[in-house]
Amino acid sequence: MQDPKRYTVTAALPYANGPVHIGHLAGCYLPADIYVRFLRQNQKDVKFICGTDEHGAAINIKAQKEGISPQEVVDRYHGIIDQAFKDFGIDFDIFSRTSKEVHHKTAQDFFLKLHEQGAFEEQTTEQYFDPEAQQFLADRFIVGQCPNCGFEEAYGDQCENCGSTLSANELINPKSRLSGSAPVKKETKHWFLPLNHLSGKIRNYIQAHKNWKPNVYGQCMSWLDSGDGLQARSMTRDLDWGIQVPLKDAEGKVLYVWFDAPIGYISATKELVGDDWTKYWQSDDTQLVHFIGKDNIVFHCIIFPALLMEHGGYHLPDAVPANEFLNLEGQKISTSRNWAVWLHEYLEDFPNQQDALRYALCANAPETKDNDFTWKDFQSRNNNELVAILGNFVNRVLVLMQKYYQGKIPAPDTLQAQDQEVLQNLTQAPNLIGEALGKFRFREAQTALMQLARAGNKYLAEEEPWKSVKTNPERTQTVMYVAAQVAAQLSQLMEPFLPHSAAKLRTYLNLPLLNWGQLEQQELLIPGHTVEKGALLFQKIEDAAIEAQREKLEASRKANAAAQYAPSKEPASFDDFTKMDLRVGEITQAQKVPKTSKLLKLEVNLGFEKRTIVSGISQFFNPDEIIGQKVVVLANLKPRKIKGIASEGMILMADDRSGNLHFATVAKEAEVGSTIS
Ligand code: 2FM
Ligand code: ZN
Repeated sequence: MQDPKRYTVTAALPYANGPVHIGHLAGCYLPADIYVRFLRQNQKDVKFICGTDEHGAAINIKAQKEGISPQEVVDRYHGIIDQAFKDFGIDFDIFSRTSKEVHHKTAQDFFLKLHEQGAFEEQTTEQYFDPEAQQFLADRFIVGQCPNCGFEEAYGDQCENCGSTLSANELINPKSRLSGSAPVKKETKHWFLPLNHLSGKIRNYIQAHKNWKPNVYGQCMSWLDSGDGLQARSMTRDLDWGIQVPLKDAEGKVLYVWFDAPIGYISATKELVGDDWTKYWQSDDTQLVHFIGKDNIVFHCIIFPALLMEHGGYHLPDAVPANEFLNLEGQKISTSRNWAVWLHEYLEDFPNQQDALRYALCANAPETKDNDFTWKDFQSRNNNELVAILGNFVNRVLVLMQKYYQGKIPAPDTLQAQDQEVLQNLTQAPNLIGEALGKFRFREAQTALMQLARAGNKYLAEEEPWKSVKTNPERTQTVMYVAAQVAAQLSQLMEPFLPHSAAKLRTYLNLPLLNWGQLEQQELLIPGHTVEKGALLFQKIEDAAIEAQREKLEASRKANAAAQYAPSKEPASFDDFTKMDLRVGEITQAQKVPKTSKLLKLEVNLGFEKRTIVSGISQFFNPDEIIGQKVVVLANLKPRKIKGIASEGMILMADDRSGNLHFATVAKEAEVGSTIS
């Protein structure tokens, strides 16, 4: 489609189970916001839709962890997330919630229509059930080993390590996240979307979009081409939190969260524009764009389009510009390990410096591959680019304009070749940047913006108006006139990327926000127009502030490491220690204790005597293989009876983080009976 009449732009609905971090911003919300601001500046009819995803296991698990109800969880985090987006200038037309009445009704109606049209297959299958929690386990309620990559913590619907979609039945060694126990299988009825029968249609749809980003197109094709192809997927769940399945024989069942969430985009549009919503969803002159992170590709490119196709009457997504993941200081961002930069915390530490983060995240966006955010890079992007190039240029222009002309733009004298070149660059920039934005190449677009400021600085440095002002005032007027046009152009082109600073700069320049189309005209500031003195657009970030952030992460790293080991014990006195009679011993006999799974009966030679010791190590050692093993023995532990056998001491073992036991050993040549102190 060449010239869409309107745009529906969505950003993935974040789960309302925690605050948002830089990974969310870089992955989806920042590029979406840049794109939408660009469209708005082009006077396009655009609706920018988002809201919180308030159903699904992610919410239940959080509620269980915090000991509060799912409703309390979503109420708390909807507000926090909404505020963070506002603070960073993510300018949605609506930020709704999937708990709204309009959404429940829309999702139920959608389901009913599919049901009436025979789109679902009803199947009674065996699914994992947690007898302790009395709950069926699907999606994030269950973890296990990924059959594709071996990752130990894959969820029942998806492996976050390799990105593959899974069903709980595929997990190896599954475990309930509710009770930690191994689940049992139990029969239950569900409504499946037979993706296996729809794969021809889906393939045609995907193949009609070869222009999608290679990471997106590639993932879709690999699902279609994978060994078993697409599989039927259940669109319902046995849960008490979610949208009721609107059928008589479906008590206790709710819609699958990935059925209802994307429909949330539609419900939010209804909430925003009322009956006009059909224009934004059911009209082929609308461009539908979904901004998401890579873990959401299958849901937006395959399952949601399949649902829309089966329903009928909908326009299908035109573009799904998914980003890859952003890491933090070389490690995967992790909420549970607090390895993240939370947006609300960032603003406490760097008040009013939203644009610095927007800039660094866009410059380093994971557009084609996973990327890394480091605090050092953030500091250098801010100090060496925003402050030293863009801020410095604008500030020089404003200061000199006051100094020489009391803020009045001077009339230019004859334009020389270098002036013409700068002005020509200015008129080309909107197209250059616009083209990159239209192709979702945000890094490239922002680089071109900074290039303009860099060229402005170079121009001032070469023309030296501070020198010519004394000798050649006409030339100075020309140079300052040209430089002012650059500042004006920047104040417009910055808007999608750096909206807070762009607005400030336009205030200093007494300029409104202009249409992108008008920016090709050379003269944005006419001679005689007055500009203000202004203030610095960006602030330098000192080493100490960066160090403080790194220390915060270091504290998380230490806490994570400590959490993986047994806690330290209370201090012991030297006397306590000397009370222990530790000796070198050698195992001379070993045999299993009958009718036990863990115990071995050992004979240990201490040199001066032989002892019988019962030890709980049978799972880890074969009796034959430990004869001759030198060990450390606590020889004065009071004898005690274990399974009827008098045990006369204890063998010291190392117990690792996985619960495996290893002998605490001494050098082979240490003589048996030696004391250890
Ligand atoms: O992955 C997530 O965070 C999901 N809550 C995204 C949902 S996007 C859409 F479908 F609503
Ligand atoms: Zn995997």
